[in-house]
Amino acid sequence: MKRIVVAGAMVLHFMMPARAQQKTSPEEIKSKMQWFADAKLGIFIHWGIYSVNGIDESWSFHNKKISHADYMAQLKGFTADKYDPQAWADLIKESGARYAVITTKHHDGVALWDTKFNKLSTAKSTPAKRDVLTPFFAALRKDGIKAGAYFSLLDWTSPDYPGFLKDSSRYKISEQPQRWAKFQAFYQGQMAEVMKQFNPDLWWFDGDWERSADEWQAVKVRNMLTTFNPNTIINGRLTGYGDYDTPEQNFPVERPHYNWWELCMTINNNWGWQPQDTNWKTPYEIITIFADAISNGGNMLLDIGPKADGTIPPEQVNVLKELGKWNKKHEKAIFSTLGGIPQGHFYGPTTLSKDSSTLYLFLPGKVTGEIMVKGLDNKIQDITVVGNGTKLQHKIVGKISWSPVPGLVYITVPANVQDEYMTVLELKLDKPVKLYRGKGGLNG
Ligand code: GLC
Repeated sequence: MKRIVVAGAMVLHFMMPARAQQKTSPEEIKSKMQWFADAKLGIFIHWGIYSVNGIDESWSFHNKKISHADYMAQLKGFTADKYDPQAWADLIKESGARYAVITTKHHDGVALWDTKFNKLSTAKSTPAKRDVLTPFFAALRKDGIKAGAYFSLLDWTSPDYPGFLKDSSRYKISEQPQRWAKFQAFYQGQMAEVMKQFNPDLWWFDGDWERSADEWQAVKVRNMLTTFNPNTIINGRLTGYGDYDTPEQNFPVERPHYNWWELCMTINNNWGWQPQDTNWKTPYEIITIFADAISNGGNMLLDIGPKADGTIPPEQVNVLKELGKWNKKHEKAIFSTLGGIPQGHFYGPTTLSKDSSTLYLFLPGKVTGEIMVKGLDNKIQDITVVGNGTKLQHKIVGKISWSPVPGLVYITVPANVQDEYMTVLELKLDKPVKLYRGKGGLNG
């Protein structure tokens, strides 16, 4: 007979091998990762000059859909004249998110703060005429939301960066090492500006794939950031020298082999604002994806793309508000929980309280009738519909008196307790969850 005692996500997670490329030790970073593990939901913000024409962020010139000059002409249209950073932060808070990550500089090289290194910033080269990040970081912190900085390592506009268009590059590092050294000093200098001005709680690097860890001087960069702020969290896109994994748009089916991970995902099909893209994910879809992520021990970083005037499109506002209502109602089943029980015990997402003695079951809002949990080797003391308070009955089916294999738990879900999106049941167990994982049969 095989049994495992799930004494907490830490046990589950640490038994799993870390991804080969991850160079940081989970044990060493465990305590600083706690807020991130508890946070579950972050809001990603892609804001930049690409929202002027509503085209692909940076990739549009790199992939030659538009010339670099025409792309940069968008600088003239970035007004931010209706930008209300406090309203952004308040909306993020309303969504239930515990952190936000904003693009400080995308692959196009346009800084959203007032960089001293060049004129390519919203402060020096756009009608917005200001550093748009300072008031946003302040507003987030006022609302008690952790503030993260997206920062593109690669910079396709910098004259000292080798890469430019998809089929052309400026030079080879092996042939012009001095020029590369100049770029290293430039990008690390800009990073130091962001570090000193905003002291990000989290660094969200991107674009590491174009160069090696040595070329980026990833160890030096990590040391600089963690010396300045030992608690800062670094995403995995620093050629393995980060703290957590960032599957993008693609949904893990199995639990990722990382101690911490975050699914970053767009609300429609694009990161930045693009008027023709009306393929909005519905609140139901976002909520079920979110439940799936937390069930598997991860977070969700949901992206919004504000317009060049600083307004957030109503469809995006709607998703954030609906998500917020659901989060508020189901707060205890979501935030500061642990990833749930392994797949196979219940046909849906689950989470566990930190002491593992409360199990939360997530059901699509339309489910009524009897739902079933398999292999639960605990006594259930009480079942409640979260955010509704209704107590539910359960029945044990198929328990054989002389066999150690637990019976099936059937819970009757009446028609009047459903949430609009996902209904959550709270099962209070007699002790930390204990699962039967065997193959059934006579000997269990
Ligand atoms: C990709 C893209 C980038 C986007 C990012 C968000 O790496 O290069 O445009 O900002 O994903 O995860």
